[in-house]
Amino acid sequence: MIAPREPDSRTVATDRHRRLAARLDGIEPFHVMALLARARELEAQGRSIVHMEIGEPDFQTPQPIVDAALKAVAVGDMHYMPALGMPALREAIARFYHDRYGVDISPARIVVTPGASGALLLAVSALVNPGDRMLMTDPAYPCNRHFVRLVEGVAVCIPVAADTRYQLTPELVRGHWNARTVGVMIASPANPTGTLIDADALAGIAGTVREQGGALIVDEIYHGLTYDGDARTALALGDDVFVINSFSKYFGMTGWRLGWLVAPESCIPAIDRLAQNVFLAASTPAQHAALAAFTPENLAVLEARRRAFRARRDYLVPALAALGFEIALKPEGAFYVYARCKRFSRDSFALVHDLLERAGVAITPGIDFGEHRAAEHVRFAYTTSIENMQEGVRRLSAYLA
Ligand SMILES: Cc1ncc(COP(=O)(O)O)c(C=O)c1O
Repeated sequence: MIAPREPDSRTVATDRHRRLAARLDGIEPFHVMALLARARELEAQGRSIVHMEIGEPDFQTPQPIVDAALKAVAVGDMHYMPALGMPALREAIARFYHDRYGVDISPARIVVTPGASGALLLAVSALVNPGDRMLMTDPAYPCNRHFVRLVEGVAVCIPVAADTRYQLTPELVRGHWNARTVGVMIASPANPTGTLIDADALAGIAGTVREQGGALIVDEIYHGLTYDGDARTALALGDDVFVINSFSKYFGMTGWRLGWLVAPESCIPAIDRLAQNVFLAASTPAQHAALAAFTPENLAVLEARRRAFRARRDYLVPALAALGFEIALKPEGAFYVYARCKRFSRDSFALVHDLLERAGVAITPGIDFGEHRAAEHVRFAYTTSIENMQEGVRRLSAYLA
């Protein structure tokens, strides 16, 4: 019999009866969620709010995907899928790499997951032991450091700025690598900056990581949403790279919770075991629906949306610059503008709250993405129409005046 476990001395007391694990200490909420809740409250009181805080496309899921889901649900076989994903979907994703990037990936390397979130969790859990260090940028997508924390690793958040396109370089990676470092996490295009990593820098990082026997994880969730040419996949750099992607953003399926991980083939049996235990499988109806994501009919819808996002970026960036926000680099992808607001406030957290209350404009404070110059920055999301953004810019202009 397994003896009942005594409460760990490292656990955190929340009240007299319940203790939560100490690892929760390092896991912060999204500040923007509190802001969104306040925005909804104001809307319920009849106030009009321009939403430029939300990190998901305002477009609905494309009709071909919805139709495929309805058809599959009507047939009714909604049993569990294999933990690695529906074989036909893994093959469809592999074909997509061939058609879009000219890269041949074995479907055996593809794991279908509950969103990119599930893929990140699997990759980090498979690679990081307690105390191991994982390198990433500051600012970055906040969940990355929290996933590392969850498995009791150490997220090493390296301050970056416009001089490196807010991305890591081989020099930064070498300079921060030590005996406890196990890998590097990169997102390109990145959240919150929308910048792509330079191809040579990425190849250099892949080489450095390989020399050190570490792992390179590249999050390509915003691929397809690039506006000055297509991004190249890091999978072209070798079959030892871990790539994260998702149906959430480009494919317009945020709420369906479906993404994927491409991992080195030797890691797949271990990741299969992990996936079986952690999720059992990704959603069956969502996987049927996603089979329609790569059809020419659907890709035509997505490409029209990409053009709409580009037009939004091309409206918003100069409009914000004209108001006095400093935008060091034109974002090349995703749907975010990372803007310096120091001219208006040294406390972007206070600024975004005041903006919401007094101007009815919701944006995200820099603190959601790290610590480095966070108080000087805010993120605007162009996940709303140009008309709405024009109204937002009018309100910002009046507020800042
Ligand atoms: C860089 C990045 N990676 C991963 C995710 C998670 O996406 P999902 O789990 O919806 O696929 C997000 C969501 O905003 C993101 O910005």
